[in-house]
Amino acid sequence: SANESPAGRPPTATYDSPFLKACRREPVPHTPVWFMRQAGRSLPEYHKVRAGIPMLESCTRPELVAEITLQPVRRHHVDAAIYYSDIVVPLKAIGVDLDIKPGVGPVVEKPIRTRADLAQLRDLTPEDISYVTEAVGLLTAELGATPLIGFAGAPFTLASYLVEGGPSRTYENAKAMMYGDPELWADLLDRLADITAAFLKVQIEAGASAVQLFDSWAGALSPADYRRSVMSASAKVFDAVAGYGVPRIHFGVGTGELLGLMGEAGADVVGVDWRVPLDEAARRIGPGKALQGNFDPTVLFAGTEVVETKAREVLDAAAGLEGHVFNLGHGVMPKTDPDALTRLAEYVHTRTAR
Ligand code: CP3
Repeated sequence: SANESPAGRPPTATYDSPFLKACRREPVPHTPVWFMRQAGRSLPEYHKVRAGIPMLESCTRPELVAEITLQPVRRHHVDAAIYYSDIVVPLKAIGVDLDIKPGVGPVVEKPIRTRADLAQLRDLTPEDISYVTEAVGLLTAELGATPLIGFAGAPFTLASYLVEGGPSRTYENAKAMMYGDPELWADLLDRLADITAAFLKVQIEAGASAVQLFDSWAGALSPADYRRSVMSASAKVFDAVAGYGVPRIHFGVGTGELLGLMGEAGADVVGVDWRVPLDEAARRIGPGKALQGNFDPTVLFAGTEVVETKAREVLDAAAGLEGHVFNLGHGVMPKTDPDALTRLAEYVHTRTAR
């Protein structure tokens, strides 16, 4: 497997990278930086290579995936690459009729509302996503000592798209199932946990050095509902990949009240959005976890001086942490000036050089 501890097989080329050291809560030469959604629409070179190719089709072409994944690493000198794909790719790969509509997001043709609808979800096999294995192989060869982060959508966030049929602000259909038919809900999330685990395993076995589980919309839930109806499915995913020894990152938006539970679900690193300062987040999460975050992505529209002041605030709040990976509190927004991101990465590196 990709990243054995020194007690296991010999460490890989990425083992001593600042990113993996920070995830393991070891001392680092500088605070590592990467940006959620660093690949994609903020980069002119992305628009160029994607022109005329639908989003989901682009995810099935290994050379294109590798190129798009590498673009932000070349440009911003970030400490990790994130595999270019989407959370709905494994669902598409097992035959769910869905598409990503530009400016909208994932749209599902036949939303899952009844037990019979569960038949849309069969198991994911490595053969379904051979292009992922191929693309990760191309990437790790090219990346050398820079780690590649694999990722997947968490069961709740995937279910929110499958049950609603598309993006939602309120998740009323998903929550109606969660409250009204808890058995169907549990079976849906369990099936999604298996698909998600299989998707992550393929990425790790092909060479990904870490994985991030995106439960982007979990912030819609109260802690009691998260614990009762969601947490065990995410824990099943983390357990399924625990044996590889690669750091597991757990991220959501608006999850200030869930941070402790999201750590408890089995993460090594907990992602934090900008609503909770990192020192307070560390108190909520407790010892034994690294933190990732939490620069407000909208600040990148405010000019270099403001960006540096706010970056310093993030670093100051992180000063007492056991391990810190600098990131945004959510993804790069499409209209962000890429030069502002390059400058931010450089600022964090310079400011934290030890
Ligand atoms: O650089 C990276 O972070 C890797 C690429 C990545 C994409 N999607 C590519 C993408 C990642 C990590 C994702 C994850 C993802 N997809 C999440 C979790 C992360 C988050 O932001 O919370 C979610 C919720 C989705 C679902 C999804 N896919 C949305 C909401 C959208 C945006 C719709 C829009 O057009 O505004 C997508 C489409 C998508 N995924 C694009 C990209 C580059 C844009 C498609 C395009 O270029 O036309």
